[in-house]
Amino acid sequence: MLPLVTSITENSGYFLLGTHTAIGADDPATQPAARLLASYLQTALGAAPPIRDAGSIVLELGSTGSENPEAYRLTVVPDRVTLRAPRPDGLLRAIQSLRHMLPAEALRPASGSRDWKLNAVDITDEPDLAWRGVMLDVARHFFDKAEILRLLDLIAFHQLNVLHLHLTDDQGWRVPIDPYPRLIEVGSVRRAAHEGEPGIPPGRASGPAHRGAYSHADLAEIVAFAAERGILVVPEIDMPGHVQAAVAAYPELGIDPAPVPEVWPRWGINDLLLNPTDTVAEFFENVLAELMRIFPSPYIHIGGDECPTDRWAQDPQIVTRAAALGLADVSRLHGWFMGRMARFVKARGRIPVGWDELAGADPGTVVMAWNTGAGIAVRAAEAGHPVVLAPSDRVYFDLYQSPSGEPRAQKGVITLADAYSFDPRAGRWGADLRDSVLGAQCQLWTEYVSDRDQLDYMLFPRLCAFAERAWSGGAADFDAFQTRLLPHLERLEALGVAFRLLDGAEPQTGK
Ligand code: ACM
Repeated sequence: MLPLVTSITENSGYFLLGTHTAIGADDPATQPAARLLASYLQTALGAAPPIRDAGSIVLELGSTGSENPEAYRLTVVPDRVTLRAPRPDGLLRAIQSLRHMLPAEALRPASGSRDWKLNAVDITDEPDLAWRGVMLDVARHFFDKAEILRLLDLIAFHQLNVLHLHLTDDQGWRVPIDPYPRLIEVGSVRRAAHEGEPGIPPGRASGPAHRGAYSHADLAEIVAFAAERGILVVPEIDMPGHVQAAVAAYPELGIDPAPVPEVWPRWGINDLLLNPTDTVAEFFENVLAELMRIFPSPYIHIGGDECPTDRWAQDPQIVTRAAALGLADVSRLHGWFMGRMARFVKARGRIPVGWDELAGADPGTVVMAWNTGAGIAVRAAEAGHPVVLAPSDRVYFDLYQSPSGEPRAQKGVITLADAYSFDPRAGRWGADLRDSVLGAQCQLWTEYVSDRDQLDYMLFPRLCAFAERAWSGGAADFDAFQTRLLPHLERLEALGVAFRLLDGAEPQTGK
């Protein structure tokens, strides 16, 4: 199994899954899980099995001896499969483990009408970390609803439970905010930029013109599809930097309204920040209010990363404003602005999340720790912030996967072994700061990822390594992981995932 389960006992005999199989779910609270299981088994069997009060695959709520909200027990004996969990989310995890136990061929769409053997086992399982996330940047390159639904199903297959959508950045704004239609009309379209154009240094070309945005209906469908799989969709609006698309749409949000900037057709860190005034803060509070109507997630991500404040420091009005607010210097306006956004989110009963730059801005904000240097993550935890570990030297899957022969990617290398060496319980995270670790998250920034095949190539199999570290905990045995990975890659192949081949592996053909 991948991720590795907590305990497994293999018994003799097998259960025969076939068109005669019915799902038994007599408790209404198990019905959503039963419907999800039926939809997966439709792929394997050619027809969805009926859901009845009694059946040979039984879903039931009840104790498994663990308090973990996602714990489950999966028992296969020759005449019955039992999925038991204290909470419905545990049933959803048991369903994914059941899929892992099927032959890989049973995962292939339209695998046809036939019987499949499930070997007799008794599994008990639960995750180590509560937040097991994947971030997808849909601002640099847009991935439409169909691609997000496909990714959600792959996330679920790996027992991950958070999809963090990075919805806005300098290069694009992808979420409709009713009071401000130009955020989409202007902010979701980026002109083509090519190496050698004025202002585009060599190596900074950002490819062809690009556009895309979700509708409210798309986002409702994404949220519902995720919830069916026990996945939370956490939306992010990045601010007060990474905002050039918003400023292109509404120039009054920026420091200097003339000349109006365009949606940024380049990559890199931008020194264009919001003007930190009350009016601009209110605009972004209105954005967050609308975001909270669209996304029911208890967590709302407010960004906060990479804000060089030089242009603030050069603006006399902003210098005066910082002084009037009693701030020691203009750089403190970042904390002022982010603290206000965090309080706005909290006042509406949600929990703010931000990148580690906003540690200290507001206690209670979840800090997503991406910077690896100078003990930033530890200091955030010491200051009382819950932490989601997202270190850029282990779980940034936009970096190269090997030192040579790779398609263009972000500078730096994270091999599969590097990804698997990520230990969210290392050092103090497993000791005095253990309770500060809300979870862990891998990131896919998409400057160099523009389509599904590239997305698959960058995420898989590194995401498999991350998923196991986040779910299974314990000591990392990379050799044992690689042994489990081989049959798992057959599953991914059956699911149509264009994963990167393991080093030394022959390309698979015609399977
Ligand atoms: C980040 O990588 N700027 C969070």
